[in-house]
Amino acid sequence: MNTFNDLAQKRRSIRKFQDRPIEEEKLNNILKAALMAPSSKRCQPWHFVVVDEQEKLLQMSVCREMGCKFLDGAPLAIIVMADESLSDVWVEDASIAAAYLQLAAEDLGLGSCWIQVRNRMKSENQSTEAYLKEIINAPEHLRIECIIAIGYKAEEKNPFDETRLKWEKITKNNF
Ligand SMILES: Cc1cc2nc3c(=O)[nH]c(=O)nc-3n(C[C@H](O)[C@H](O)[C@H](O)COP(=O)(O)O)c2cc1C
Repeated sequence: MNTFNDLAQKRRSIRKFQDRPIEEEKLNNILKAALMAPSSKRCQPWHFVVVDEQEKLLQMSVCREMGCKFLDGAPLAIIVMADESLSDVWVEDASIAAAYLQLAAEDLGLGSCWIQVRNRMKSENQSTEAYLKEIINAPEHLRIECIIAIGYKAEEKNPFDETRLKWEKITKNNF
């Protein structure tokens, strides 16, 4: 069993995936973790769109000029959304849930990568968010924070090197 520190150390961004679907049970466990994530006032403003249709993943893989192309080789992606009318801190709520998705995936031996959506542009005239919302027919009030691509790893990455931890970023009692 992974301890939490193992997980945190082992999780790296994986952008190459095997051509192998994710079992329903594993997917449910990953989603369960996100649904247990903390949210401000327990408002749970999120919505998660699970995408496993190849055609849609292909469309999503061009949602930005860079940083998302690998989606065309992912078996699955989860679009992390939240209702901004329910929470003024929906960004934080969605981000925490997204991090839970990534750690749960790692715990199940799967790789994942965050693809930033909010504040990103597909082209000069269209936001990445607007482009994706059309693809999934999302209602106006739901915002998109990110996409988490998930799959069986087709690349190995070293765990985080503990000797490179930036302890200088931590101070005690005072800045
Ligand atoms: C808020 C955020 C946005 C990110 N956006 C992207 C992205 O759009 N595309 C991508 O390939 N990786 C993205 N990443 C992954 C980072 O590049 C990655 O976490 C970082 O380089 C550290 O590498 P590691 O995850 O392997 O430790 C993002 C990560 C975070 C937390």
